[in-house]
Parts: sequence; C-alpha cells; structure tokens
Amino acid sequence: MNESKSSEEIFEDAHEALVMMNLYDSAVKQLALKFEVLNNEFKVLYARNPIHHIEKRVKSFGSIAAKLLKKGLPVTLKEAKSKVNDIAGVRVVCHYIDDVYSVAQMLERQKDIEIIKRQDYIKHPNYNGYRSLHLDIRVPVYLSDRTEYVMAEIQLRTIAMDFWASLEHDIRYKADKSKLPEGINEEMYECADKIADIDRQMQDMYKRITQAQNAQESEA
Ligand code: GTP
Ligand code: MG
Repeated sequence: MNESKSSEEIFEDAHEALVMMNLYDSAVKQLALKFEVLNNEFKVLYARNPIHHIEKRVKSFGSIAAKLLKKGLPVTLKEAKSKVNDIAGVRVVCHYIDDVYSVAQMLERQKDIEIIKRQDYIKHPNYNGYRSLHLDIRVPVYLSDRTEYVMAEIQLRTIAMDFWASLEHDIRYKADKSKLPEGINEEMYECADKIADIDRQMQDMYKRITQAQNAQESEA
C-alpha cells in the first residue's frame, strides 16, 4: 500500500496544524490577560501586586509528539487536541502562598472558565517535593465564525516554589538519570521542605508587618 501523501494533503495537514496552534496561542494570550487584569485591579485597590510575573507558552510539535508517544497514542492532531492537556500552558508566579490561593479563586469564579482538574501540590507535594497549584481548565476562544473551547494547564506557585522547580528541572533534564548520585531525590525533597519553611516565614513576616502598619494608621 502506498502511504505517502500528496503535496496537497501535506499542505492541508500543515494548514490544520497552523489553525490549531493559533487557537492555543490565542488561549494563552487570553488567560495571561485575565491574570494581568486581576493583578492590576489589586494594585489599584490594595496598592500591591499578588503576581510577581506570568509565563506563557504553547508546547512545540516535538514535545506534543513525545507526550503522545509516551502515552502510547498515535501522533495526530486529533489525539493531541483531546489527550494533551497542556499544549497551552500558563505559569503564574505569585509573591506569597496566600496569593496563590486567592489568585486561583479569582480565576475559578470566572463564569467562562471550566475547571477540569485541580491538583494541589502545595498541600500534597509530589515524591521529590515539587510544589505548585495546577488547574486544568477549558477556556472559550471566540473566532470569526465559531467558538472553540480550549484546554490549558495553569500552574500557580510562589517565587520560592518557582526557584526550586526551575533548578530541579534544570538538574533533571541536563543530567543523565542513570548517573544521578544516590539519594538525590531525598535531598531535593529536603531542599523543597526548607524552601517551604522560608516561604511560610516570609508570608508570616509580611502579615505581621501589614498588621502593625494598619494598627499604626488606625491610631493616627
Ligand atoms: P499531565 O498534566 O497530563 O502531564 O499529567 P499530570 O497531571 O500527572 O502532570 P502534572 O500536572 O503533575 O505535571 C505537569 C507539569 O507540572 C510538568 O510538565 C511540569 O511543568 C510540572 N511538574 C510536575 N512535577 C514536577 C517536578 O517534579 N519538577 C518540576 N520542575 N516540575 C514538575
Ligand atoms: Mg496535570
């Protein structure tokens, strides 16, 4: 059987891929804007920003294919759309732990956002101490002739959690796993715990400072 595609079919596939990626690109832009709006409103109302910064990305075709292969699924756009939940990814890095939960709550309240899955790796860190709040969601993207409901993964974390996750990711991906010295996962966990202690302490100091300032202001 001749399975090779005609040039027309190849162009059709490429066009479909382009349409799909544009959809995910629109979804991450829309989500990032939602967080920017919340952050700016906070600044106006409370003179502070809960969000330190926002990162957004659309997964590359190479990473999408790798994920499908890992799941034992065929590498097609249809499978990618329905089975890969993080083609659209937004990371919201907040100042304090409380900010993570309040920003998540603000998004969860938005009527157009459908929450598919909520994974709280802050309350339940994973095996190596990874902490973040993950929201798998669906967001409508309004196109010229239709509305598409696009899946996206939102990761919310503090600056401290982001510091650990970035370095851990760097170590894990650069190193040859088979040559990792023994006990690294345990040590990673220990580091994550220490960082979590500091996160709580910073949060607590921030609260005490604001309370003291508020008390001073109401006395004046
Ligand atoms: P999928 O979301 O379908 O991939 O599976 P899952 O829900 O089991 O994955 P999960 O939501 O737990 O993790 C998805 C993403 O979180 C990863 O792509 C990473 O960005 C991040 N993540 C999860 N665990 C770790 C970790 O141990 N270290 C780091 N640095 N990042 C992690
Ligand atoms: Mg997930």
